[in-house]
Amino acid sequence: MTNLTNGKAVCLSAIDGHVYKVFPNDLNAHGTAFGGMIMAKCDRLSLVVAERHSGHICVTASVDSIHFMAPAKENDTLLFKVSVNRAWRTSMEIGVRVEAENSYSGECKHILSAYFTFVALDENNAPTAVPPTICETKVQERRFEQAQIRRQARLDTVVALKQHGNASV
Ligand SMILES: CC(C)(COP(=O)(O)OP(=O)(O)OC[C@H]1O[C@@H](n2cnc3c(N)ncnc32)[C@H](O)[C@@H]1OP(=O)(O)O)[C@@H](O)C(=O)NCCC(=O)NCCS
Repeated sequence: MTNLTNGKAVCLSAIDGHVYKVFPNDLNAHGTAFGGMIMAKCDRLSLVVAERHSGHICVTASVDSIHFMAPAKENDTLLFKVSVNRAWRTSMEIGVRVEAENSYSGECKHILSAYFTFVALDENNAPTAVPPTICETKVQERRFEQAQIRRQARLDTVVALKQHGNASV
């Protein structure tokens, strides 16, 4: 069995270019791709990356931001790029980028960025340690650094809300 104590390369769990064709049943009343459908796919693909990276069953702990930059249209092809940005003790931040491609013209636009936090669980459903991430590119290093800033913001928010009597996060 491979010793992963020193870490696991980001590329070993990444999804680069999962495609989904937008059909009429994927549209909202506005005639563009339904955001909830896209979010569900992001969560599912992020889960795959988290479970590949950790080697454990994982659960979504939080989604701290989903930004829709532009709509996708009927007949567009959605391209999902998903990878682990950083792992801490038992949690991991997974980043998702979605582009909408017009497969006839080749035009491609960035429509969504999102960050999901997953926690790995052991056989008793308790949080369990995950391998550190090994960055091999400048882009991976930038995402690694920025993930720490987002984590700090998440933890600061939890502490601040608890101080105001909200213990639900
Ligand atoms: C996520 C969950 C396992 C965390 O359990 P917990 O008892 O809070 O565990 P801990 O306090 O030991 O924290 C474990 C890790 O989760 C992280 N975490 C906990 N709550 C979090 C939150 N709201 N956002 C981000 N990270 C969170 C902690 O920072 C910690 O990370 P670290 O070990 O890398 O430092 C638990 O809250 C849970 O089961 N939630 C429900 C998950 C679920 O049903 N998801 C939807 C379906 S998949």
